[in-house]
Amino acid sequence: MGPIGVFDSGMGGLTVLRELHRRLPAEDLLYFGDTARVPYGTKGARTVREFALQDALFLRSRGVKMIVVACNTASAFAIDYLQEQLDVPVLGVIKPGVQAALEKTVGGNIGVIATRGTVSSNRYQELLIAEVGKDRVIAKECPLFVPLVEEGMTSGNVTDLVTADYLQSLKNNVDTLILGCTHYPLLKETIANFMGYDVKLVDSAEALAEAAASELGNKKESGNGEISFCLSDIPWKFREVGARFLGKPIDAVETVNLNELEREGILSIPRKEKA
Ligand code: DGL
Repeated sequence: MGPIGVFDSGMGGLTVLRELHRRLPAEDLLYFGDTARVPYGTKGARTVREFALQDALFLRSRGVKMIVVACNTASAFAIDYLQEQLDVPVLGVIKPGVQAALEKTVGGNIGVIATRGTVSSNRYQELLIAEVGKDRVIAKECPLFVPLVEEGMTSGNVTDLVTADYLQSLKNNVDTLILGCTHYPLLKETIANFMGYDVKLVDSAEALAEAAASELGNKKESGNGEISFCLSDIPWKFREVGARFLGKPIDAVETVNLNELEREGILSIPRKEKA
């Protein structure tokens, strides 16, 4: 029972929330965006792991029955750790994204674009290389994509130039490209335009929603399809940018202070009992 909890470093995870809502329309969803500490993609493993644990424990304190790590960087650095610590299923975006890419690829040449943190973690590359071999995988960090999307610049001259610069080494060398960051699905059109429409783009959000549905199995469809939002800060353009990510307007948003909740002991209770 209880909602499915979804967290991200900020607003980008709303692309994942949208897919979950589409795939599991009767499930209640609780979204937490760590907008006070975004971005995660430029930070190191230890910091991201600490943030991710706090985010997950916050959701657990609100009674969620499953936690979806929408953020690729948090999935890359912290998924095993979270699965160890939490007493509910924790799903990340990386494995479902890799699985979807392997199903879509024709020639077995797969690219992955992501934040600096995700690329440096090697998580995508290791899983892909184990299946298709080292010479067939290209990973590329695209740090400017996140701020471009946040500013609403999903198309236009600047975005086209940045896209061409980042993706030059992948063009004509991959038949499938994983969009390994919450923000990149909003650049699908621009990326497809540059890469060529025959290159298959893998949106991890869709793959993850499918994985969540199968994890729930016969326990699914237990709510009224309500979506609630909690953020650690309300950014200036939250409603405007957030609605673009989610694909529909956002009404009520609650602000929470994780450090205060931790001091009150609320974020430490539901960790898994050690066997
Ligand atoms: N959510 C992050 C990801 O998917 C992108 C934004 C950030 O750097 O925090 O990797």
